[in-house]
Amino acid sequence: MEVICQIAYLVGAICFILGLRGLSHPKTARRGNLIAAWGMGIAILASLFYPLENVPNNFVWIFGALLIGSIIGWISAARVQMTGMPQLVSIFNGLGGGSAMLLAILEFYKSTNNAGSLGLVVIVFTLLVGAISFSGSILAYLKLDGKVKDKNVILPKHQFINSIFLVGCLVLFLFLVLNPSPQLLLIATIIFLVYGFSFVAPIGGADMPVVISLLNSVTGISAATAGFLYDNQIMILGGILVGASGTILTVLMCQAMNRSLFNVIMGGFGSSNVSSAGPVGGDQGTVQSVQAVDVAILLNYASRVILVPGYGMAVARAQKQAKELEEILAGKDIDMSFGIHPVAGRMPGHMNVLLAEVDINYDKLLDLEKCNSELDETDVVLVVGANDVVNPSALDDPGSSIYGMPVLEVWNAKQVVVFKRSMKPGYAGIQNPLFFKPNTKMLFGDAADTLSAIIDEIKNLG
Ligand code: TAP
Repeated sequence: MEVICQIAYLVGAICFILGLRGLSHPKTARRGNLIAAWGMGIAILASLFYPLENVPNNFVWIFGALLIGSIIGWISAARVQMTGMPQLVSIFNGLGGGSAMLLAILEFYKSTNNAGSLGLVVIVFTLLVGAISFSGSILAYLKLDGKVKDKNVILPKHQFINSIFLVGCLVLFLFLVLNPSPQLLLIATIIFLVYGFSFVAPIGGADMPVVISLLNSVTGISAATAGFLYDNQIMILGGILVGASGTILTVLMCQAMNRSLFNVIMGGFGSSNVSSAGPVGGDQGTVQSVQAVDVAILLNYASRVILVPGYGMAVARAQKQAKELEEILAGKDIDMSFGIHPVAGRMPGHMNVLLAEVDINYDKLLDLEKCNSELDETDVVLVVGANDVVNPSALDDPGSSIYGMPVLEVWNAKQVVVFKRSMKPGYAGIQNPLFFKPNTKMLFGDAADTLSAIIDEIKNLG
């Protein structure tokens, strides 16, 4: 049996690696996800049936918990809207950290008398990272869901408070290893949980993608250290893969925003919602509002069009209309492609997923650099529900909270049409001077409705 379980571990590990490989491209991502899920299923079964001495048979409890967890997971994943995916990812992530935390508490009680100091270091480390990942992810979920506002959880001198917390956590870590006791365990768990919450509290606004992938890698690390507790190779390997891929994603996110991780953690973006370009709603000049028929005429005489999707496209579920518009324009020999910003939407690859849902050809997607290099020769850019990722303040306003983030420089095209419902700001909460540029027109309304109206008008034009 042991050999069979070891082989199953190997198969599970290969599935994880193939799954990750598949996730690196939109065309293979769905298959990659399924392969990784099969790998996890095999790994769980192999772990359960691995022959171990002195381990009671708890299959009723284990399969009961597996069944309940699977039903809750299945229902929540099936019900979630595309716009709610980041919140779901945060919750799932937090539960992973919470499980590692509970395992560490359990092992602490089981082994305080016989675990060596190295064993206790692993247990307390698992407790620390698991607790931070759990409470941090729960706060990230509440922030992403709009249930908690950044300003309500930021204290004066918050980073200083966090530094004290960090030192306090490290001291408790040492005390718990040197002098393990249930009372100290309780205090340490509470402080670690509060630190996770406090760590995420000052990070907000446009920095949330970074903090989510960072928490993801922390959860991976806690799973890996929990694997050490049980000497379970597949758990160690799975945790390391999650930790490593989360770290790579965090680095890529920071690069996409032109920020260092330290700068993100110290809370730059989102800590100030007022840029020198003026507060939200401040007097920036006048905007030119247009109707669907005007945009239809503009498009009819264009030869090159780029659509820049953003979070609002996900809210409006306007990807079907975007695809239909692309087909209609293609029928008129008008080339339309899609400019994708790496942090557009609310999760990594959000826009790619939306466009893949309606089978938009992957060759039609332009990454940030490619899109920016083609904007000079573009007749019309349609900014559909995007805001922060096309904000010129990121380049020319050192006082702006998103200063330094590379953006899609859509204003370099001949004409820009912005689709949104109001003059409200985007996620970073700052005004967008793009809306007041002479070559920008605003088309107000739900993006699905306004795109449908444009399609109808183009059809009328013949
Ligand atoms: P945002 O800057 O958030 O702007 C979205 C815009 O969509 C809003 O201005 C909103 O304006 C408009 N909108 C909402 N519903 C709409 C609808 N039904 N029809 C038309 N427009 C609608 O989006 P973005 O440009 O994609 O930028 C993403 C932001 O989120 C960045 O700041 C990024 O850092 C942050 N973020 C990203 C991630 C990841 S990993 N991608 C995760 C967390 C946070 P109205 O309300 O006026 O319609």
